[in-house]
Amino acid sequence: MAAVPSLASHVQQRLADALSAALPEAGSADPLLRRSDRADFQANGILALAKKTKANPRELAAKVVEAIGADDALQEIEVSGPGFLNITVSDAAIVRTLAARAADDRLGVPFNEHPGTTVIDYAQPNVAKEMHVGHLRSAVIGAAMVEILEFTGESVIRRHHIGDWGTQFGMLIQYLIEHPHELDHKSEGEVSGEEAMSSLNRLYKASRAAFDSDEEFKARSRDRVVALQSGDPETRALWQRFVDESKIYFYSVFDQLDMEIHDADVVGESGYNDMLDETCRILEESGVAVRSEGALCVFFDDVKGPDGKPTPLIVKKSNGGYGYAATDLSAIRDRVSALKADTLVYVVDARQALHFKMVFETARRAGWLNDEVKAVQLAFGTVLGADGKPFKTREGETVRLVDLLAEAVQHATAVVREKDKQNRLTEAEIAERGEQVGIGAIKYADLSTSATRDYRFDLDQMVSLNGDTSVYLQYAYARIQSIKRNAGEFRPAAHPELPLAPAERALGLHLDRFAETVAEVAAAYEPHKLAAYLYQLASHLTKFYDQCHVLSADNPPEVVENRLFLIDLTARTLHQGMALLGIRTPERL
Ligand code: ARG
Repeated sequence: MAAVPSLASHVQQRLADALSAALPEAGSADPLLRRSDRADFQANGILALAKKTKANPRELAAKVVEAIGADDALQEIEVSGPGFLNITVSDAAIVRTLAARAADDRLGVPFNEHPGTTVIDYAQPNVAKEMHVGHLRSAVIGAAMVEILEFTGESVIRRHHIGDWGTQFGMLIQYLIEHPHELDHKSEGEVSGEEAMSSLNRLYKASRAAFDSDEEFKARSRDRVVALQSGDPETRALWQRFVDESKIYFYSVFDQLDMEIHDADVVGESGYNDMLDETCRILEESGVAVRSEGALCVFFDDVKGPDGKPTPLIVKKSNGGYGYAATDLSAIRDRVSALKADTLVYVVDARQALHFKMVFETARRAGWLNDEVKAVQLAFGTVLGADGKPFKTREGETVRLVDLLAEAVQHATAVVREKDKQNRLTEAEIAERGEQVGIGAIKYADLSTSATRDYRFDLDQMVSLNGDTSVYLQYAYARIQSIKRNAGEFRPAAHPELPLAPAERALGLHLDRFAETVAEVAAAYEPHKLAAYLYQLASHLTKFYDQCHVLSADNPPEVVENRLFLIDLTARTLHQGMALLGIRTPERL
């Protein structure tokens, strides 16, 4: 386990040192190093510095070049334009750093020097309800962030804040009491997720119909809510049946998504019931919340309704009931005090942004959040259909997640079958790959656009072999594995003494950026930048294949070895990066 500094950071450091040597009064100035098309890197920082110190920029640049002195890694530095530096690193330096990365299990990615504890709230469907594409986004983005953060050394605690509480349970439980066999299953033994959801659905519809049409049932349902809240054992036991039944369904969907969810991390809204009273008491006593029209409210200067009147966050309703906000505030207290988190991340639909803004601000006023403990909403946009309109079935209903996953797998299986022209794969292999490609396609489509943007759910595009898709990346990986299998007695080995072709250099320099990309993605919660990095990596690989043959008989053995080394590191980087995104990389496709 050895962190490998990137070439860019090495060059950056050398430049910074040279800058302070050439211009001591500048202190530690940033040379502003960027990747460049002209050379490998360009440093633009000298211009601003010259301006500040009233020096001639080209002269200062020349002085910096002089101060750098000899360095194996730096092949050429030239002053260009008004005072830029163009920097070319040596081929040997590229291969040497890559060899150091290859020697490390973590591909040279360092651990964060100051890791903390992050509680991440994601994959939070609602009990007795079907999951929809919004729940998919939260699950996919959240799971990727968990992997990425853990990879950097952060302690991550997962919380699945499922919707398992609320007045609708009065109606559901009352209906079950009056129709006691509605949740029974015909089949003996294990119940499938599909079966569980369909009986919940039936029950939900039937109880809703009774509630809307039968005043007496409505009254009995309301009494049932009171019984549930006061902890009546029979009512609680029935509530638990709904939760358990729903979990069978949730877990089956997460399983299809190839995602591990642990029961201990499922702490739904009900998990904070015992804290609600105290949360409100603290808020009221400290003056953070005030009574207004019988309700306990928190007001904000910048949150107003269309009528210009302030819209408060209601922590306790005038009828004494608690809502979503009281639960979330209690969850913050729990996560900060009991779980000792210093960062709270919420992977939740952007349409809940106002709720979280008010909840976070309230928690700051109460002192639960502060400079040491911060909370962020990793807000995601809406999923649209291929036509750019809100995602609905032809009948105008919400698309069921399970149908969507099944369709993606079907699509992907067809693609895998089509691609396997020589019939090398068995039916079982085609089915397995179809799943890995289909589920990967859904995850990748979600992760490759910036989370805040709405995105179009277009299956044809998602499983396309060309373009920015997971399938393209999976094929890139499988192709490398196939070349390695065909390499005979040749093994990957780094040869820093060899000159590199332009496509090899480009691939190598991109590989060298992996650690920095991971660090950036972890710090800004932007998994789409990891997806973009991997896509560029695969694109560099495609160009490399065009220009450089690996197993050609014309190649001297060391060239074969060095190229095998490059593509092997590419495969490992693809594999690691995809794993962080929660996507499989099959060995053959
Ligand atoms: N169950 C909610 C929904 O389906 C999401 C919960 C988000 N997490 C939270 N702590 N409020 O919209």
